[in-house]
Amino acid sequence: MHRFEELSQQFAVRFNTQHFSSRPASLYDPANYFLGLGGKRIRPVLCLMGNELFEEIDPDGWNLAIAIELFHNFTLIHDDIMDRSPLRRGQPTLHVKYGPSTALLAGDVMLVTAYDYINRSETPHIRGILQLFNQTAKEVCEGQQIDMDFEQQERVGLEAYLHMIKLKTSVLLAASLQIGAILGGAGQGNQEHLYEFGKSLGLAFQVQDDYLDAFGDPAKFGKQVGGDIVAGKQTFLLIKALEAATPGQLSQIKELEQAEAATKIDGMLGIFKATGVDAWARELKEKYMEDAYRHLEDIAVLHRRKEPLRELAAFLVQREY
Ligand code: IPE
Ligand code: IPE
Ligand code: MG
Ligand code: MG
Ligand code: MG
Repeated sequence: MHRFEELSQQFAVRFNTQHFSSRPASLYDPANYFLGLGGKRIRPVLCLMGNELFEEIDPDGWNLAIAIELFHNFTLIHDDIMDRSPLRRGQPTLHVKYGPSTALLAGDVMLVTAYDYINRSETPHIRGILQLFNQTAKEVCEGQQIDMDFEQQERVGLEAYLHMIKLKTSVLLAASLQIGAILGGAGQGNQEHLYEFGKSLGLAFQVQDDYLDAFGDPAKFGKQVGGDIVAGKQTFLLIKALEAATPGQLSQIKELEQAEAATKIDGMLGIFKATGVDAWARELKEKYMEDAYRHLEDIAVLHRRKEPLRELAAFLVQREY
């Protein structure tokens, strides 16, 4: 069994290679720029851990892990265009540096390259894996569209928000784990518990992401702090603040909608703090982490084999970047 750091290093050796042709450089240099920005590489490691929970890592595990990380980076490039985000991993986003058209294409070519890696797999389980991968990719698109639809809505309920983040974020974490498990020959019941573990973990992960977007330390976070506020995102912070706001705070929120970016961020952060969203974030994360750990316990393999997953899960919801 390997811990996160070990798997992440082993993955980096295979991932930090050439995935694309060299020409036209105007397309592939931007694609390489984005991959070179790094990232936590959580999803490929989840795939490898899901595999190692049941078996030694299959040679195909590395190709599938690469495919998953390429897919994730494709979603980030397109997400940054949709969210009008200037910063990613501490550097200018791709559309800011190279323009939206090139960013779209660099994302597209990453997605297609992900399929090249899936196509290298020799596992007899490839059909099931591809089906799960495609199902997940469609769900991510659905979640991303709902996320944008919510920007136009005045109020969104907590349930609707949770449904949206399940689609845009959780299912990819869950599927990464399950793909590894399928490769490792896991039975249906174990696969399902692992998927549910990933889904609950993914909800807690996105809650933390939304929390950091408002309250992260700019030096560590790597994205524009307050970006969600400027973009008018419906996050649990806004949902909870609207629920708890006094009439005075409600009219202040209304006024802030018209304000320019810096004033809006300042004002909304003040309201978030005053309405105690901190405690809510902790509560929500704890609830989903309990669900996650319950499913992990239900997987029928030796307790100690689950240790790397337990450790990674704890890191993901405490993370500062
Ligand atoms: C960012 O994911 C997108 C979300 C689903 C919140 P990560 O926080 O895993 O991004 P990187 O790959 O580490 O930069
Ligand atoms: C991202 O949600 C979900 C996907 C990229 C599919 P966010 O928009 O919150 O992610 P960040 O904060 O930009 O990384
Ligand atoms: Mg975004
Ligand atoms: Mg987004
Ligand atoms: Mg975010």
